[in-house]
Amino acid sequence: MVFFHMAQRTFKIAVTKGDGIGPEVVEEAMKILHVIQEQADVAFEFTDAPAGGAVWKKHGVSLPEKSWDVMKQSDAILFGALGLPGLPPGVAEYAILQIRQGFDEYVNLRPAKLYPALYDKCPLKPEYIGDGIEFYTVRENTEGLYVKIGGIKNDAATNVMLYTRKGCERIIRYAFDLAIQKKFTKVTNVDKANILDCSMFWREIFEQIGKKYKTIQQENYLVDAFCQWLIRKPYSFEVVVTDNLFGDIISDEAAFIVGSLGMAASGNICPGGISMYEPIHGSAPDIAGQGIANPIGSILSNKIMLEETCKLPDIGASIEQAVEVALAKGRTPDIQTKTSGAKTCSTREMGDLIASELTKILKS
Ligand code: NAD
Ligand code: IPM
Ligand code: MN
Repeated sequence: MVFFHMAQRTFKIAVTKGDGIGPEVVEEAMKILHVIQEQADVAFEFTDAPAGGAVWKKHGVSLPEKSWDVMKQSDAILFGALGLPGLPPGVAEYAILQIRQGFDEYVNLRPAKLYPALYDKCPLKPEYIGDGIEFYTVRENTEGLYVKIGGIKNDAATNVMLYTRKGCERIIRYAFDLAIQKKFTKVTNVDKANILDCSMFWREIFEQIGKKYKTIQQENYLVDAFCQWLIRKPYSFEVVVTDNLFGDIISDEAAFIVGSLGMAASGNICPGGISMYEPIHGSAPDIAGQGIANPIGSILSNKIMLEETCKLPDIGASIEQAVEVALAKGRTPDIQTKTSGAKTCSTREMGDLIASELTKILKS
């Protein structure tokens, strides 16, 4: 029998595959969205919005106007990674900042979670893993050192670190609200308030806003010491709110602690606006074209999209469930161990395994 059903809603997705392993991992993320479309009451309409280093080589800009227009008319952007060796520094990567700032995606949400299946891949001794690791880095995403004020002039270079009251207030509020929504008990603020004016300003706002969230415990760390606490007691963190550059660095450290940079997903979120979902890693030129990149970071960024843009958190949760089951059966080389019992997979095979587990979950 043939079943016809009206999709509840069609989401327009701009797809920027980018450079290096970007296209390889986005292909697998799209495979997952196709499964969801087949099994659930939702549809996706994909339109390419090319950007990055290869595009710069051809057109002299890394984010062509045509791609920007496609993004502007979309509900969300599915993004791979940008960056090509041999180009002038930053020309490809600049497109990412244009998107984050242009769509006012002021939250960069970067979950770090140690899946039980990957305990054998965690580089920490059990005493540092404690009861498990699960926390969210809430990275400010439009201000700080990324505002592009400054430059290189003769024998000196400057980058201005800029924070506005509005910029600090909205990201700090987001972090507290996230803690409440996820039923966490604590928000950790990470700054450099012993030396940077921007951090002193930020910390004062953190403490002011914190007074309104009486049920949530609050703590402050300086970023240098925090990097070692992240290794010493990662189990103690729940929501970590921090500056743009500090969040960039901390989230790569967190990703490795829970298994691999290839596992980490992110949402560049403009609440109520156009958000961009991407793995946190880059274009990985050292493994590009080999078909061995881990697509899970890209696949899990769909989970954040299902929650944030589509408001379908249950389907989002099923993506994560499928990933966990698939990890027992297959693994890309970056997360493989001698004792895993899982077979070593290519990028495509990893995507196929997750797609097949997700199909089973959504059918049941
Ligand atoms: P990277 O994240 O590309 O790679 C760092 C290391 O992690 C490499 O050894 C790489 O092979 C490994 N790795 C990354 N993703 C992986 C995956 N999915 N599976 C398996 N292994 C993976 O960082 P890099 O080498 O410092 O940067 C390369 C380029 O990417 C640069 O041009 C940089 O500017 C750019 N970059 C872009 C983004 C983005 O598009 N959002 C993010 C970070 C870096
Ligand atoms: C990331 C990247 C970007 C950043 C670069 C490529 C602009 O490292 O998304 O983590 O610094 O935010
Ligand atoms: Mn980064």
